[in-house]
Formats: sequence, structure tokens, C-alpha cells
Amino acid sequence: MKSRGELIVIVTAYDATTAAIVERSGIPIILVGDSLGNVLLGYESTVPVSMDDMVRATSAVVRGTHNVLIIADMPFMAYQANVEQAMWNAGRLLKEGGAQAVKLEGGRNVAPTVRKLTEAGIPVMGHLGLTPQSIHHIGGYRVQGRTEEEASALREDALSLEAAGAFSVVLELVPSEIALSVTEKLSIPTIGIGAGINCDGQVQVIHDILGLQPEFNPRHTRRYADLGHQMQIALEQYASDVRLGTFPTDAESFSLNNELHPKDSSGNT
Ligand code: KIV
Repeated sequence: MKSRGELIVIVTAYDATTAAIVERSGIPIILVGDSLGNVLLGYESTVPVSMDDMVRATSAVVRGTHNVLIIADMPFMAYQANVEQAMWNAGRLLKEGGAQAVKLEGGRNVAPTVRKLTEAGIPVMGHLGLTPQSIHHIGGYRVQGRTEEEASALREDALSLEAAGAFSVVLELVPSEIALSVTEKLSIPTIGIGAGINCDGQVQVIHDILGLQPEFNPRHTRRYADLGHQMQIALEQYASDVRLGTFPTDAESFSLNNELHPKDSSGNT
């Protein structure tokens, strides 16, 4: 797609129902991100996310889809200890989870691991710039690569991931000029999130673009729906109907005289 100049669209999903909707939208790639720690599990960072969390979410996404490329995140401490640990855990995401590829954070420090995984037949996506698993080291969710020193380290990291066999690299919270210079240097695609328009594609956390957490509206996202608010209105309406005794009606109930279901299992009358 990079060589054809086709921009690559990726979105996160963590469950079968949402993944099926993503597939119906025509988006060809799902990232089962460890952002599930923040948006599903209520953690303040991705640090507590476990391999079991990732395997369960990945297998759900796989069950909900037919023909989507599924990339699963390696969570914090699933690959940092040594290459053998990384190999077993990446293997779990493919064998138990059903993913086709894994993503891990880091540059030159993880390049030997990326090489081993790709040699073992496991496609790897890299992740540079803001790497949320290192939030306690970085000290805050802020733009990376602003100084010339940081920018040149980022380019070196990206080149080392490509040389190690990574098939793509996420650039998170990086100035667009730096994202452009990395994108021009690599033959593999760069996928931006908060890295401007110059990447080969974009990834977004689905909760952000659908407005599922109305109070969270970071600069690097665009809200295409206000589902959090719409869900709240629907639930308020349901609660009100129950309290007023207007739900369910006869048409939504069964009686001894009426054996036919007024609605079939899909909700159609
Ligand atoms: O976990 C995630 O959703 C991610 C994206 C933000 C790239 O890593």
C-alpha cells in the first residue's frame, strides 16, 4: 500500500461485536491495542495490562471478523525480560489469540527481539515516539522528538526496526516534520497517531473517534460520533420506560394465547 501511495487505515477494537462493525465499515486492519487497559479496564495506564487480557481480547476480535488483518499488542513486561519470553508471548497471541501480527514498543533496544520474532515467522509492528508502556520513565503523555537529538534517535530507532524485519512502525505523538523525515527514510509504512498527515497511514483508538468517553478529547483525535452521549440518552429512556411501566408492552411480551414470537431473535417483527 505504501508503494502504491494508498493511505493505510487502522483502528483499535477489543471485542467481537465492535470488531464486526469495524469490518463492515471496510477498515482492513484492527489493532488490539493494550489501550484496552485505559478504555475497557479502567486503568490509568497500559502498564497493568496482562498477556491474558490481550489473548482474551484478541481471540474475541478474531471471532468477530472474517477478513481483517489483526495486530495484537504485546503488553508491558511480556517481551522486555528476554527474547525467549518475547517468543513465547508473541506465540500465544498468534496461537491462542489468532492474531496475524504483534506490536511492541521500542527501537534499537528491542531490535534483536524483533529480528528473532520475524525469523520465527511472527510479523512485528514497531512503536516509537510516545511509548505509553514507559510512561513512568517518560514522565507524562507529551510530544516526543522535539529536539534534534531526540529526532535523530527516533530516526535511528526506526531504521533499526526496519533492518530487524519489522513490517511497519507506529509513530505516536511526534511532530509532523519528524514523522515526514522518518517516513521518507523507511521503505516500510509509518502509521501515525498524533504524528500529522505525513505518515503512510493512521491509527486511532476507537473510543476516541466514536466519543465513547465524552470527557476525553485529546488534540490528536477527531470525534466522528458522540456515542457516549447517545448511549446515556438511550439508557435514560429505557430506565424511564421501566419506571413508568411502559416497557414492556404486550408486543414485547409472550402470552399463553400467542405462541408466535412477536419479534425474532434479531429483534425484527
Ligand atoms: O494500544 C494502542 O491502542 C496503541 C495505539 C495508540 C497505537 O498502541
